Amino acid sequence: MIQPLEFPICILAFAILLGSCNKSHVKTSRSEGIASGYYNEQYRPQFHFSPEAHWMNDPNGLVYFDGEYHLFYQYYPDSSVWGPMHWGHAVSPDLIHWKHLPVALYPDSLGYIFSGSAVIDLTNAAGFGSDEKPPMVAIFTYHNPILEKSGSNVFQNQGIAFSLDKGRTWTKYSGNPVLKNPGIRDFRDPKMFWHAQTKKWEIIMAVNDRVHIYSSSNMKEWNLESEFGMGIGAHGGVWECPDLFPLKVEGTDIIKWVMLVSINPGEPNSGSATQYFTGEFDGHKFIPDNSNIRWIDWGRDDYAGVTWSNIPGRDGRRLFIGWMSNWEYATVVPTTVWRNAATIPRELSLIAENGNYILISKPVRELTKLRSESDTVSIKSQSFTGEKEISTGEISLMQSELLFDFKFLDTRVDSLGIILENGLKERFITGYSAAQKQFYIDRRVSGNSGFSKNFATISKAPYFAGTDLKLHMFVDASSVELFVDDGRLVMTSLVFPTEKFTRLILFSKNGNVILNKAEFHGIERIWP
Ligand code: FRU
Repeated sequence: MIQPLEFPICILAFAILLGSCNKSHVKTSRSEGIASGYYNEQYRPQFHFSPEAHWMNDPNGLVYFDGEYHLFYQYYPDSSVWGPMHWGHAVSPDLIHWKHLPVALYPDSLGYIFSGSAVIDLTNAAGFGSDEKPPMVAIFTYHNPILEKSGSNVFQNQGIAFSLDKGRTWTKYSGNPVLKNPGIRDFRDPKMFWHAQTKKWEIIMAVNDRVHIYSSSNMKEWNLESEFGMGIGAHGGVWECPDLFPLKVEGTDIIKWVMLVSINPGEPNSGSATQYFTGEFDGHKFIPDNSNIRWIDWGRDDYAGVTWSNIPGRDGRRLFIGWMSNWEYATVVPTTVWRNAATIPRELSLIAENGNYILISKPVRELTKLRSESDTVSIKSQSFTGEKEISTGEISLMQSELLFDFKFLDTRVDSLGIILENGLKERFITGYSAAQKQFYIDRRVSGNSGFSKNFATISKAPYFAGTDLKLHMFVDASSVELFVDDGRLVMTSLVFPTEKFTRLILFSKNGNVILNKAEFHGIERIWP
């Protein structure tokens, strides 16, 4: 997403960058961080990935290789607002603890390095490595700001690069671009995957408010297979950062293909969000199961999420991570040294229900390693009406995992939920309204929101809970991720309280609710 006001700055910076593409960027980041305590600034996530300093947006190039999960990401190393895009880089042995590595891809004469993906070329199809030493290959969008400024429509083209040293250093292919723009303004974000049946590499990429699927035998020449999106799905804005992958339906042998498509704007709660489709894919064409519009996350702050490639078969999970922000305010959120973070990594699965396939998102199991043993509180069964404060012992709410198991016996219960509150009476409210059959997140009076008129809102998600309800929440300095009923509904939200939330309050309107049990965990920070 290009921020129009920043455009002249981008051009200037681009001109400078073209002259210095191969220089490593000045390492101010770490020392700036230290000035206020390493990863200790107000609002700094403690167990989410964020860059040491400066701007990040989409996750890119998610690939597992040789014991490491790679997280590349849209990065501007010179400022904490969006600018000429690079690929930042971090690796993790466990999806949780991240080590920052130098910038992987710099802009060059073909343009900025926009979003894309990475794979391990196991058959050496592109010829960059050997069968014994398979290369990591990245495919990304070159976004040429000079051409864009000139009024041309062909400023986004796809390029590739390879690494023979586990993503540490990269060589761009001399024949770039490998997929030239056919005259379409928005032509970007290729996600590459291996299609086993046709034995071809494929990409799915965003093209205006559609996706295109291409195939290739060598990653250098791409053939258009099909287009998807006309007359189906949400079209409030441009489509971005698609993904396409097979998933086995739980408890069956049925394989379905899942397509993720981010869209901006057009989210049901305003701004950016990611929709998904389920269907069949034969390597050529995607046929959707139905025309329902469905969202992977109903919160306002999960965008451009995609999945890891090359996860070993013995693991077999489909692992996802998103950018935890929204283009409506991402450039102005009140953080200092850095701007923006990733969601917690999630495992995606599919269940069949009433003839529909539903995408489930769960926090990855590795997160339980961060539970602090000394900081665990179990709450016994109790009933309540109105508001009831619950003690969380020594646990710092701002760095916690909260699990609740509710039962409502009283069918008159209109609404129940959880309030995080501080001494200034700022409140972040998570509620379920049985009457409206919906979840809501109310951050209207949750603290610092003056940076954007679009931030202090209520977001809503249709949901029917029956009489039992399980809530699972992760709170981390400036974010709350809510997983309802084992991942059937997810809502990810940023929040910037002026002071830390210290009180946990349960509420029920119009009736008695039983809290069957609750468990709270302090979560250890992942940074040294
Ligand atoms: C999505 C996006 C992508 C683009 C990138 C630029 O957030 O707009 O479509 O490649 O960001 O940073």
